[in-house]
Amino acid sequence: MFRSPGVRPGGAPPVTRGDAHGIQIRDVWLNRGPTPLFCGLSLDLTEPRIGLVGPNGSGKSTLLRLLNGLMAADRGDITVAGLNARTHRRDLPTRVGFVFQNVDHQILFPTVREELTFGLVEQGRSRAEAREEAERLLALHGCGDWGDRAVDALSEGQKQLVCILAAIAPGPPILVMDEPLASLDLATRLALAARLARLPHQIIMASHDLDLLATFDRVIWLDAGRIVGDGSPGEVLPLYRAHEMARAAAQDTLS
Ligand SMILES: Nc1ncnc2c1ncn2[C@@H]1O[C@H](COP(=O)(O)OP(=O)(O)O)[C@@H](O)[C@H]1O
Ligand SMILES: [Mg+2]
Repeated sequence: MFRSPGVRPGGAPPVTRGDAHGIQIRDVWLNRGPTPLFCGLSLDLTEPRIGLVGPNGSGKSTLLRLLNGLMAADRGDITVAGLNARTHRRDLPTRVGFVFQNVDHQILFPTVREELTFGLVEQGRSRAEAREEAERLLALHGCGDWGDRAVDALSEGQKQLVCILAAIAPGPPILVMDEPLASLDLATRLALAARLARLPHQIIMASHDLDLLATFDRVIWLDAGRIVGDGSPGEVLPLYRAHEMARAAAQDTLS
C-alpha cells in the first residue's frame, strides 16, 4: 500500500552514478505568491523511472523547477546527483537535464546543431568539442544528418527529440520532464516514449498519461503541494484515477 514519502518501492534498484544517488529533497518550504505550496516536503528520488501526477495547480511543475535550479526553495535543501541545487546552480545542467512540455519554451536557436552545442559550450567545452559531441549524440539517436536542419522545419515530435538530446548533451545522469509528450499525437507519443524507455538516465516526469506512468517504477501523487500517494503505479494509479473520476462527476453535477 502507500508508503510514507521517501521510502523506495520494492524491486526498483536505485540509480547509481559514481557516488551520487538520485535526488534528495529535505524539508522544503515554498510559497507561490502569498500562498504556501510546499510545507516541509521531503522525498528521496532514486528509482530509474518516477512519475508525478496530480490535478492542475497541484505543484508538479514547481517541484520539477526546484530540481533543476529554475526556482529556489524558501527553506530546505535539495541535492541533485550529489550537488546542492542552491549553491551549485550553475553546474546543475551536468547533473539534471530539463525538458519542457512546450518545445517553444526550450528551443533557442535556429538549427539543431546550435541547439545541441549551446549547453556544452556553456559548460566550458570548446566549440569543436561541442560540435563533435553534438554529432555523436545525433548519430547515436539515429539523426546523424540533422545537424544543419532548421528547427522550425522539424515536426513537433522531432523538435521534442531535439529538446531531449539538448538536455542530455551536457551528460547529466538525470532527466526531469514536465509533461513532455502532452502536445504530441498518439503515434508520435508512443514512438518518443519508446525512445525514452531506452535511455539509461533516471527520469522524473510529470504526466497525465497514466498508461505511460503504469510502466514506471514509482508514482508520486501531488495535491495542493502535499503528497497524497507514493508507491508503485499499481498502488497509486487506480486510486488517483478513481479520485479524479469522482472529481469529474462532481464538476459535472455543478455544471
Ligand atoms: N508564476 C506564479 N506565481 C504565483 N503562483 C504561481 C505561479 N505559477 C504557479 N503558481 C501557483 O503554484 C501552484 C502550483 O502550480 P504548478 O506547479 O504550475 O502546478 P501543476 O504543474 O501541478 O499544474 C498553483 O497554485 C499555481 O497557481
Ligand atoms: Mg505543470
